[in-house]
Amino acid sequence: MAARDHSHRHNHTKKVPLFPFLSLLCFISIFLLLSLIKKTSVPSQSRQSFQFHRSDESDPGVSHRSCDYSDGTWVYDPSARSARYDNTCKEIFKGWNCISGNKANARDIINWRWKPRQCDLPSFDPESFLRKYRDTSIGFVGDSLNRNMFVSLFCSLKRVSNDLKKWRPAGADRGFTFLQYNLTIAYHRTNLLARYGRWSANTNGGELESLGYKEGYRVDVDIPEGTWGDAPRFHDILIFNTGHWWWAPSKFDPVKSPMLFFERSQPVIPPISPDEGLDIVLKHMVLFVEKKMRSGSIKFFCTQSPRHFEGGDWDQGGSCQRLKPLLPEQVEELFSLKNNGTNVEARLVNQHLLEALKGSDFQILDITHMSEFRADAHPSTAGGKKHDDCMHWCLPGITDTWNDLFVEYLNNIKVRN
Ligand SMILES: *[C@@H]1O[C@H](CO)[C@@H](O)[C@H](O)[C@H]1NC(C)=O
Ligand SMILES: *[C@@H]1O[C@H](CO)[C@@H](O)[C@H](O)[C@H]1NC(C)=O
Repeated sequence: MAARDHSHRHNHTKKVPLFPFLSLLCFISIFLLLSLIKKTSVPSQSRQSFQFHRSDESDPGVSHRSCDYSDGTWVYDPSARSARYDNTCKEIFKGWNCISGNKANARDIINWRWKPRQCDLPSFDPESFLRKYRDTSIGFVGDSLNRNMFVSLFCSLKRVSNDLKKWRPAGADRGFTFLQYNLTIAYHRTNLLARYGRWSANTNGGELESLGYKEGYRVDVDIPEGTWGDAPRFHDILIFNTGHWWWAPSKFDPVKSPMLFFERSQPVIPPISPDEGLDIVLKHMVLFVEKKMRSGSIKFFCTQSPRHFEGGDWDQGGSCQRLKPLLPEQVEELFSLKNNGTNVEARLVNQHLLEALKGSDFQILDITHMSEFRADAHPSTAGGKKHDDCMHWCLPGITDTWNDLFVEYLNNIKVRN
């Protein structure tokens, strides 16, 4: 593990300056190059880091500024932020409504502001967002963490614009149009992105049967799940995520109910592990989206949302009772690949995502590291389940900051186009 970790870090150091903006290199001033060289020599942590480069292509040489939004600290600043919405927003899933659920620090969660080291991340203004993205349709495609972000955006917008149509655009799980602005946002539920369903051995036999498989889940690596198959044609902007379900042994038990991958409707033989399956699924889904979306549409991929189980995993009595964000050293202890802790999958998933998205025209919303600090921001026992919820996030909460990041990126892209 240590060797792998090391080689990853090594790659990271080499690739960061080149990967996202080779095509822009010719525009980049000597100052930017110098600042990048300086940046990569900063003591490197064992995490991925994605940079978003603000650049005004119509005016090369002037406003080249880069900011790594994932590199920063949470600053306690109760005066800075009035809640964008509160616990009365009906769309908040009960288990995430930490104010109504009486979580001790529920109202304090949003008093922390994310301060990137090299720049600021302002709270987006819902009203100007609605005006700016008039006649636009935005789809969230992914698991419940993506829904958590969708709900945050919905509640922020609803606070300033009440004239709504609730409907299910393009097969979405839920969706709303803000009628005054003709702005639609929707959530398409999908755990693996790829279609999957139960599989049982056929009595007539087959390749998997002859290898002794009796039960499992069939995952079609090249077929998007029906819940979002039409989303790329429908929406102007898509935000994807996937990750948690790929590391879910309670559902995809490697022995009792393994993931069995199919490509072109044939079982992949010899059978492959979930992390190899994830790579193939990502490859197909990226191609599918790039093929189906209109030109000029914008695609985002969210990095993995970290969990904060301490003292065991979710089904082993693990909990998250902290009332303040973690310190940087605590973050490394909990998440470093070397330590192989309970929540190690956050950075592992990111390695797969980053590799699959390399060279694609997806924007990467790197929410992982900023979220790693926020052990205090999960529903915990206020989630109302038998076990602590240290995976989803309280609302209002840090997915509000994810949306600030999303809007910041979007505004930059819009300026560029
Ligand atoms: C509303 O927005 C959609 C894009 O989301 C667009 O296709 C449609 O033409 C707009 N409708 C009107 C009346 O402008
Ligand atoms: C990490 O820990 C898990 C159990 O917690 C173990 O099954 C796995 O083999 C470990 N991986 C490495 C690379 O040490």
